Amino acid sequence: MSESASLRSETPKDYPATRELLLAAFQRPGEADLIEALRKDGDLVFGCVAAIDGFIVGHATLSRMRAPFPALGLGPVAVAAAHRRQGVASALLRWTLAREQKDQWRAIFVLGDGDFYGRFGFRTELATGFGSPYSGPHFLAMALNGELPAREGQVDYAPAFDRL
Ligand SMILES: CC(C)(COP(=O)(O)OP(=O)(O)OC[C@H]1O[C@@H](n2cnc3c(N)ncnc32)[C@H](O)[C@@H]1OP(=O)(O)O)[C@@H](O)C(=O)NCCC(=O)NCCS
Repeated sequence: MSESASLRSETPKDYPATRELLLAAFQRPGEADLIEALRKDGDLVFGCVAAIDGFIVGHATLSRMRAPFPALGLGPVAVAAAHRRQGVASALLRWTLAREQKDQWRAIFVLGDGDFYGRFGFRTELATGFGSPYSGPHFLAMALNGELPAREGQVDYAPAFDRL
C-alpha cells in the first residue's frame, strides 16, 4: 500500500468526505445514501477510512445482517480513482476484518469477486447453504471466532440495502 496511507475508524467528521468519495467511486448516489441510511438506522457496525495527508481516499463498511447468528455484511468498499491498484482496498479489508475477530460476530458475508475476496479468507462454499437474494457464485462468507454456528438459514443485509 502507498506508504503514507493510514487506516482508522471513521468519525462523524469524516461523513462529508466519505459521501464525496462514494459519490465519485460509484458515479451515483445510491451507495452514499445507503451508508447514511445504515448510520441512521443504527446498522452500520464499523466504518473504516484510509487517509493520505489528511484526505480520505478509501472507505469500507461492515453492517449488521439479519441472520441465524451474529453476522455482518461487508460493503460497499470504495477507493478514490487516483489511489487504486496500490493496495488501499486490500489494506482496508485486512484491517477491518482483523478487528472483527475480537468481537462477538460469527460470520461476514460479501457479494463480490471470489478471486479478490478469497485473498482475505472468504469462501463461496461457506455461503452456499444460506438463502439470500444474492445466493450464487459471487456470494461468499467467512467464519469469525470459530466455525460457522450453522450452515443454512436465511441471511439478509440490513433493511437499508433493500432501498439501494
Ligand atoms: C474495487 C476497489 C475498491 C479496489 O480498490 P483498490 O485499492 O484498487 O484495490 P487493491 O489495490 O487493494 O487491489 C487491487 C487488486 O485486486 C483486484 N481487485 C480489487 N477489487 C476488485 C474487485 N471488486 N473485483 C475483482 N478484483 C478486484 C485488482 O484487480 C487488483 O489485482 P492485482 O493486485 O492482482 O493487480 C476500487 O477499484 C473502487 O473503489 N472501485 C469502485 C467502487 C467499487 O466497485 N467497489 C466494489 C464493490 S462494493
